[in-house]
Amino acid sequence: MYKIAVIPGDGVGPETIREGIKVLDAVGDVTGIKFEWIHYPYGAEHYLKTGEILPYDALKEMEKADAIYLGAVGDPRVKPGILEKELLLKLRFYFDQYVNLRPIKLYPGVPCPLRDKGPEQVNFYVVRENTEDFYVGVGDRFNEKEHESKIEIKRNLYNLKFNVNVSQEKPEEIAYQLGIISRNGTKRIVKYAFELAKRKGLKRVTAVDKANVLTYVYGLWREVFEEVSQGYPDIETEYNFVDAITMWLVKNPEWYQVIVTPNMFGDIITDLGAIIQGGMGLAPGANINPDGISMFEPIHGSAPKYKGLNKANPIATILAGWLMLEELGEQKAAEIVEKAVAEVLREGKIRTYDLGGRSTTSEVGDAIARKVSELGASNL
Ligand code: IPM
Ligand code: MN
Repeated sequence: MYKIAVIPGDGVGPETIREGIKVLDAVGDVTGIKFEWIHYPYGAEHYLKTGEILPYDALKEMEKADAIYLGAVGDPRVKPGILEKELLLKLRFYFDQYVNLRPIKLYPGVPCPLRDKGPEQVNFYVVRENTEDFYVGVGDRFNEKEHESKIEIKRNLYNLKFNVNVSQEKPEEIAYQLGIISRNGTKRIVKYAFELAKRKGLKRVTAVDKANVLTYVYGLWREVFEEVSQGYPDIETEYNFVDAITMWLVKNPEWYQVIVTPNMFGDIITDLGAIIQGGMGLAPGANINPDGISMFEPIHGSAPKYKGLNKANPIATILAGWLMLEELGEQKAAEIVEKAVAEVLREGKIRTYDLGGRSTTSEVGDAIARKVSELGASNL
């Protein structure tokens, strides 16, 4: 019996989560796994109604769950940054989910926007650091009037010889935000990437950075990567600058096996990853704390304009369920879910608009759940 905290969230979140739960319950039926779903109302609607985003008590309660299943959060009525920081990032940080694992896998039957590339060429993991870098939220912004009260920062910036003229009589409005990388924070994510490679029988780990410009943070990142890699003599390593990897991922996706990346670059390159695996509707992600509570979600957002239309592709969320099963150690169930998704995609009869079909969200969920039952029965 697994206790799963469910946050359906906003936009298409509730309708895709519903299909995810349907499929997980179906796989539970054929494998004997039981899920207890504990629903939480957090998201834009709840915030607009009550002013509450994610209370501490709820976090405490979620500590008792085995995992968290998240739909999507975000709504045009809420200023950017509020729900992202106070809900999504709060969960990732509170539970110290330092691994953001995003498999980029093109399934047979799914159109790929890259010419001459197919499932053989698009199949790798992105291991994104999930708690540090520019996401730590250290920074400030101040205008001409506020300069006086920020004299301390002003002095700091001046001492650091920033490219900002803070010494002039009428200072200009400025903003700054710091990326912070720690030795241990880097060590644990790089280790995770190498262990993943080992576990999956993969032979190359690519480290992403911008160590040619951001020499302090990514200098440390590189140094730690180098040190950790010494422990894995059978695994080949390389460095890619983030700008270059966006190009190579389009040209030669087949080169990549495991990519390990700092937080913000990982955010950017996994959108690119999602589109080369067939689109946002197919891309799942896992926020993992290997020793704690992990959270599973699609990479896509809440897509407010599709809310309630039963149109959104639920596969990203269903595949997030696949990652949840893997993380819970339910290999067999995980395999069945992934296979069911792959089969429905390969058959190509039931698919949502984003894949050129006309099926609804629930029809796709039903088809995958049915496939799960068939696969389960044939395996017994
Ligand atoms: C993602 C999202 C989030 C991120 C936002 C919504 C905070 O873009 O999961 O990729 O930047 O990590
Ligand atoms: Mn993103």
